[in-house]
Amino acid sequence: MASKRKIIMDCDPGIDDAVALCLAAAHPEAFDIVGITTVAGNQTIEKVTENALRLVDFYGLDIPVAKGAGTPIMRPPVTASDIHGKNGIGDIEIPETDRKTVPEHAVLFMKKIFDELPEGEKITLVPTGPLTNIALMFDLFPEIKDQVEEIVLMGGAAVGGNVTAASEFNIYEDPEAAAIVFRSGLPIVMCGLDATHLCGVNRENAADLVEHGGKIAAAVGGMVQFYLKSPAYKEKDAACIHDAVTFMYLMHPEIYNGVKMPVSVDCSDGPMRGNTLCDMRGTVPEEGLTVTVLMDADGSKFQEYLLEAVRMLDAKRK
Ligand code: RIB
Ligand code: CA
Repeated sequence: MASKRKIIMDCDPGIDDAVALCLAAAHPEAFDIVGITTVAGNQTIEKVTENALRLVDFYGLDIPVAKGAGTPIMRPPVTASDIHGKNGIGDIEIPETDRKTVPEHAVLFMKKIFDELPEGEKITLVPTGPLTNIALMFDLFPEIKDQVEEIVLMGGAAVGGNVTAASEFNIYEDPEAAAIVFRSGLPIVMCGLDATHLCGVNRENAADLVEHGGKIAAAVGGMVQFYLKSPAYKEKDAACIHDAVTFMYLMHPEIYNGVKMPVSVDCSDGPMRGNTLCDMRGTVPEEGLTVTVLMDADGSKFQEYLLEAVRMLDAKRK
């Protein structure tokens, strides 16, 4: 196990964002989440922010939440209600909370965290939604890049897409923001569909969580079951928990195969909008590359570790 990392999670909960946070919450020995920032994506900024506040309490965490961008940098927002439900987390009701967001916008909140970081310490950014907040932060405060350990993001695909044949939702939603982040020069691990499509929870295990687990397991299982009824997975045996691949990679890099390669983002308005062009020709010397694209994953290990984490968190919350 690698040493404990300071993390900022930038998310749009979102069923798989919610499950990813559950995974991280079960492993405080690995992650010190110093802040959660929200971004419009799966649902509106209001809904994803309310979900983030409730999830922090539901998982027994005490992490400040900051509300971020309500729209992509240049384009109108597109939500994914058909996949994530009206409330954004599979229409599963988790308890309301009195917790409020911090007063600052997510970008200013992140800036404050970096300003208060002890000398020499760095933060790993874990974006699991559109990259709007991260891009705005780098544009406004480029010096922050010196305090970023790496970016482990869910987004993109070397081959294929889910919103269109050519692009994955997080990149499609805000391609300009993604282009800014991929051009940042920072070390990036791209947890794209090539790996996340292999990392899921199957119907049997989702039902087991609901029927035999505690309240967290029941909620997570219920969210996954909503996913499994959605157009994305209704013909499939398992639902991909895309966002959880970020934290899973940080804990178990050995179950993934990453390849360094140039990645560029298509910001056109045509059929390739949001495509992450991954140059697999191997013609660019590795030392000049900053992006590692996860190209393979051990899906059974992923599911085993994820289910273990859900049950561990439930046991802790008893
Ligand atoms: O394409 C999958 C990604 O889009 C995930 O982050 C999911 O939560 C949605 O935001
Ligand atoms: Ca997400």
